[in-house]
Parts: sequence; C-alpha cells; structure tokens
Amino acid sequence: MKKNPVFTLSNADPWSVGAEASVLFVWESQKPDLPADKNAATALRRWIDRKRFAGKALETGLVPLPPAKDRPAHVLLCGLGKLSEFTPTVLDRAASTIARAAIKHALGSLSVPSLPRGASLAPDAALLLLARGMRFGAYEFQEYKSSPSTREALRVTFGGCPPKNATLRKALQRAEVESEAIAEVRDFANQPGNVANPAAVARFARQLAKQYGLDCEVLDDNALRRKGCRAFLAVSAGSHTRPALVTLKTRGARKGQRPLVVIGKTITFDAGGISLKPSKSMEWMRYDKCGGMTVLALMIVAARLKFRRPVVGMLAAAENMPGGGATRPGDIVRTASGKTVEILNTDAEGRLVLADTLTLAAALKPAAMVDLATLTGAVLLALGHEAAAVLANNEDLSKELIAAGQSTGDRLWPLPLWRDYASELHTPFADLRNIGAAGSAGVITGAWFLREFVSDDIPWAHLDISGTAWTEKPGAWAPPGATLFGTKLLSEWIHQRETTP
Ligand code: BES
Ligand code: ZN
Ligand code: ZN
Repeated sequence: MKKNPVFTLSNADPWSVGAEASVLFVWESQKPDLPADKNAATALRRWIDRKRFAGKALETGLVPLPPAKDRPAHVLLCGLGKLSEFTPTVLDRAASTIARAAIKHALGSLSVPSLPRGASLAPDAALLLLARGMRFGAYEFQEYKSSPSTREALRVTFGGCPPKNATLRKALQRAEVESEAIAEVRDFANQPGNVANPAAVARFARQLAKQYGLDCEVLDDNALRRKGCRAFLAVSAGSHTRPALVTLKTRGARKGQRPLVVIGKTITFDAGGISLKPSKSMEWMRYDKCGGMTVLALMIVAARLKFRRPVVGMLAAAENMPGGGATRPGDIVRTASGKTVEILNTDAEGRLVLADTLTLAAALKPAAMVDLATLTGAVLLALGHEAAAVLANNEDLSKELIAAGQSTGDRLWPLPLWRDYASELHTPFADLRNIGAAGSAGVITGAWFLREFVSDDIPWAHLDISGTAWTEKPGAWAPPGATLFGTKLLSEWIHQRETTP
C-alpha cells in the first residue's frame, strides 16, 4: 500500500471533479461553509443539526447527498477544532483522519480543498501537510495477515490547485518522497524482534543504500571491540545476535561542508537484560529500534531530495537480552571515549550504545548532531504521546528543531540540561553510573548521560521519542505500529539549513 493514496492537482472546484466524496472542513463554533448547491446544502445542514456535528478537531462524519449527476454522492465532514487553536499539527492529523475514514467507509475517491478557509498557511504548506498526512493515515501493515485487504489505492484530487503551479508541484513531490520513505521503513519498523534483529537492520540499511545511492558502512562486534566500544558491546552481551553500528552517508554533497549527523537508538528488542522488564512492559519493546528507523527514512529522503549539505545517519543496533553472557548490574565498562561506566541497571541500555556512537560520530566533525531515542519511560509520564522532549547543549539548535516541528506538525517540548543534574550520575566506583541515583528527572538524567559523551563545541540535541514513536492500538489519526516520528521534522530542519550558511 505504499503508493496509497494517489494524488492529482486540479484547477476545478473540488465539488465537481467527479469524486465519490468531497471533503468539507468545519471549524468548531463557526457556521460550516455550505456548498452553493441548494439541495446539497439543505441535506448537509439537516445532517449536521441531527447529529450535533460540532467540528471538534478530528471529528468526522459521512453525509449522503440526494443523488444527482453533477455532485459527489457523499460529503466527508472533518472538524478542525477552533480556528484560534489551529496549528499545522491539526491539519496533519486531520488529513490522516480523513484518509482513515475514507478507507473505513470504502470510498474509492475523494476531493479535498487544498486549504481550509481561514487557516493562516501558505497553499503549498497546506498541500504538503495534507498529502503527507493522508499517506500517513492510509498506511497498513498486513504482512502477517493471511487475507490482507485487497482494496484499490484511494484516489485524491486536490481542488483549487493549478496543476502546473511549480510551487504546489514541488510541495506535492516532497510530500511523496517523504511519505514513501516513511512507508518503506515503517514496514521494517513494524517487524517483530524475531525478524528485525541487528543483522537484519544492517542488511536492510545496505539494501536501501544500494537502492538510493548512499554510502554504507557496518561495524560488527569485532570492529566495535577494536574501537573500544565496550558500552555498546555490554548491551548485546546477553543476546545471540551480534550488534551492528551502521553508518549511511549521502553522496555528491557540497565539498568542504561539515555534515549534519543524525543518530538513532536501534534496540531491536529491549527485554531489559538482567534488569528484566515485567512482561506487560516488554510486549511492545520491538519498538525500541524506532530512533534508528527514523534515521533510515531520513537518509532515503536526503538521497532522493539531493540535499547539498552532507548528511550522515548512524544506527546503533543491538538486542538487549538476559542470556548467559549478559552484563550484570554493577559491571563496569570502559567506553570508546575513555570514560568508565558502572552499569547499575541493564535496562538503561540505550544510553550505552549511544554513548559510544556519539564518540565515534565526533570524528566526522559534525556541523550539528541530533540523536533520536526511545530512551525513557519517564518522557511518557511527562508528555504522554503528544510531544517528544528535546534537550540540547545549544539553545539555537534546540530552537531550530522546535520550529521545524511546528511547521511539520511534530511537537517537541524542551527540558533543561542544567549542570546541577550531573551529580545524579556520580558513583564512587567509576566515572559515571548509567542511571540517576534518586530516580527522579529520568528524561534529564538520561540526556545528561549522553551529554557526557559530546564535546561542548559540537551543537547537539537529543530527542526522547518514547511517547511519540509508536501507537499500540489504532487511533483516529494513527494506524497501529511505528510512526517514524521525527522524519518530516528533520527533513524540514535540513531544508531550513540548506538556505542558511
Ligand atoms: N526502551 C526503554 C524506554 C521505555 C520504557 C520506553 C518504557 C517506553 C516505555 C529504555 O531502554 C528503558 O528501559 N529505560 C528505563 C531507564 C531506567 C532504568 C533509568 C526506563 O525508562 O524505565
Ligand atoms: Zn531498556
Ligand atoms: Zn530501550
């Protein structure tokens, strides 16, 4: 279902493009924008009154119209909430909700107005959000279903969009590239731990590199040992699958420029190791590779959109299991940086693989580094599923990322990295312990641990995506499974960086 939906731009009024249903956006506490067609307007008004359709954000309704030749058979109402509360997040999710509602109602074709009336957005920005959101919502993972659905791809016409308009076409092309990258990697991200182990991650990365023209290097356990990455190796010690540090690089970028380096936690399964997780918390821990999955999708986007800035993606892939060789709580290891770590909780493993990866990344002399990680359960307590936390050693970088997320609809929320938190990681036995002593401020102590492996002269940001990377049950706007949160945000960030020196 990768090409689903299929998009067309049309100059015509969305009402008259021959689609099975026409989307009508409705603002809460405002009169709906009824069509000029009197019969249809009456039917709509009656339906809205009868069902008390209020236009709340993501509220949908399928309204049948009296049959007539020159209009759609249905109107699909989609609420956008209050105009005063409108943000790109609303439109992104509304688009996704529309696609999911269309599939649920077995509609084959839809017409969509290119811009909800009154929304303060440029037409190309709205089109980008709508097309990307619809592709996101229509996604289905059916690999293990014996009888997958056989429906045709949904056809979507964006009305009021001159098909030759270069800006709109560019926005649509970008939406398609980003959506296809997300869909392709999502199929892998949704694979269970028995299939998607670190070796499979490395194979998949190599295949993508070949397909899209990226350089690819994989360090196995022996290579990691030679580089002194003992923290990384401590995580995979209890697993039968060897770890892999995958590095992908774009080609043909401008010479002499420092790369943007994006790093993803890629724990293909997090059992917790000897600090074993309870079974309920473990059920969905195949999702612990999602930081790395976002990095893969971003690298496809970087290759296909031919960014002029060099972009490097690194995936720290390992499986965290409690096998006989597993790291014991209290074990002390020396990291690639030379610092030693007392591993008091083997379930705080993401920071261990990332510590060594951040050390190796510094050798690339990055212009900036961003890591994405399903690092802590604590971020779920703080922000739920609505936002990822951003923590950085550089205020400008943090602001750039937050702003990029605001325009793509991906919420980031900042937390502080004051030095006062550093003492949480002190231990009499080594340079650092891998969990905070008090157990409070878990998101910050996790990020502070990472910061210990980044020099202050490299702008670096950490995104804790534990709450945003995955949907366990189907939602109005999100299909179950990996969301690849961060892909469109980082694509936007690089787009912005392209135009700054
Ligand atoms: N992958 C988990 C983070 C996680 C936990 C995400 C629960 C979603 C729900 C991570 O490796 C982990 O287990 N972190 C520990 C850290 C703690 C031991 C300091 C956590 O958050 O419980
Ligand atoms: Zn863990
Ligand atoms: Zn983990």
